[in-house]
Amino acid sequence: MTRVITYGTYDLLHHGHVKLLERAKALGDYLIVGVTADDFDKTRGKINVTQSLMERVEAVKALGIADEIIIEEYEGQKIDDIRRHNVDIFTVGSDWVGKFDYLNEYCTVVYLPRTEGVSSSELRSVRASLRVGIVGDIDFMVKFILESEYVNGVEIGAICTDDIPRAKKMFGQISLITSDYGELLGQVDAVYIVSHPSRHEEQIAQAFEAGCHVLCESPVAMSREGCRRMFELAKEKNLVLMEGIKTAYSTAYSRLLLMLKSGKIGKVISVDATCTSLKNFEQHKDEELSRVWNTITEWGPPALLPIFQMLGTEYRASHIVSLPLRGQKDFDVFTKVDFLYDDAVASVKIGKNVKSEGELIVSGTKGYAYVPAPWWKTDYFEIRFENPSDNKRYFYQLDGEGIRYEIVAFVKAVETGRGDVYIGREITEAISGVIGDFTDGDKVSYI
Ligand code: CTP
Repeated sequence: MTRVITYGTYDLLHHGHVKLLERAKALGDYLIVGVTADDFDKTRGKINVTQSLMERVEAVKALGIADEIIIEEYEGQKIDDIRRHNVDIFTVGSDWVGKFDYLNEYCTVVYLPRTEGVSSSELRSVRASLRVGIVGDIDFMVKFILESEYVNGVEIGAICTDDIPRAKKMFGQISLITSDYGELLGQVDAVYIVSHPSRHEEQIAQAFEAGCHVLCESPVAMSREGCRRMFELAKEKNLVLMEGIKTAYSTAYSRLLLMLKSGKIGKVISVDATCTSLKNFEQHKDEELSRVWNTITEWGPPALLPIFQMLGTEYRASHIVSLPLRGQKDFDVFTKVDFLYDDAVASVKIGKNVKSEGELIVSGTKGYAYVPAPWWKTDYFEIRFENPSDNKRYFYQLDGEGIRYEIVAFVKAVETGRGDVYIGREITEAISGVIGDFTDGDKVSYI
């Protein structure tokens, strides 16, 4: 009996896949199909596969061509599979010619002709091309624009900024570059807001009026009430409001959350997050500071995220200690926030004129999680115990600092109408709430 094996993602199963599977089956008597797992696809650069692994497996199964279906999860697995399943022939489409010659050592490698004119990528991009406009500071847009090129189904249709000449020089390929936000909203389906936080509420409301979905760089609003109003408006208009904190969309960070929820380190007693970056504020005159992100708005959201996701948002008390720049209370260069929960504590330490070790430590009753600096670009973490031989290390590829995955999540959010899958609404509101407390000043002690 000749045993044949082939691999693929099989997203949005199309006739190219079917033909290939039929040809593969015809090469022998027994066909094994390896369907790639989502994580493995991510490391191969396929980041916005539309269907889940289960859906893709079910679709291949329903064809009735495969005798056996397996999941491909890791680099080098093909060799293992060929040996373990006693495979005689490995086959894939001609788009892979040469790539799998190394398997000749283990079995016969056959490249079958690929069907012309159809691919999952094409189907994905035809399905929904979301036209996104961006409003805000040019320097913050750059990464988003670059990363959007890796995501199909998204097109940056317009930019709104004050510095038009610079924007034209940098992003000449974008069809509309304007300083008129209303004009931008008329051209797009959705908007990414990366302007100064004090403008977010007004710009979100305007976007909703124009029927546009919103991805807003955190904080969404300058107060809890403001944030609530934005969510209510989104609901009323049936539009998506999603908070942009790139950390939330990284695989390693998501895995860490799940691991802690499953009790890996026992009960979580303390979450301590530090985020700092050295910036030179001397160049800014006092009157210019209202246009610059202070420490609490820039670093507060990512640092608060793990606290609220791990301990919830129902803390009993909080206290803020802040170091203002040149005596300007609303412009902090260093801030510390402490939270008291019924059964846990948490703290954030953030700075733009103070440097520290940017780590995240989650302490539990059985062990602790350690995410080294810069933890907000999570790709690696350790679970550590009293006995070091029990320690475990985890690494998950992070491409594009997580922005790429954030864009993928936004496209999905628009498709499904749910913008709160990664960051719950109550968390977005609590983050804006802390910004509000800082601005009110009641809970703040100044250094
Ligand atoms: N395939 C084919 N003809 C096509 C598309 C795919 O023969 N028109 C084959 C591939 O060569 C591979 C298998 O089907 O052996 C699974 O391919 P997969 O990567 O899942 O599909 P693509 O449509 O190529 O996906 P993408 O556009 O995401 O690369």
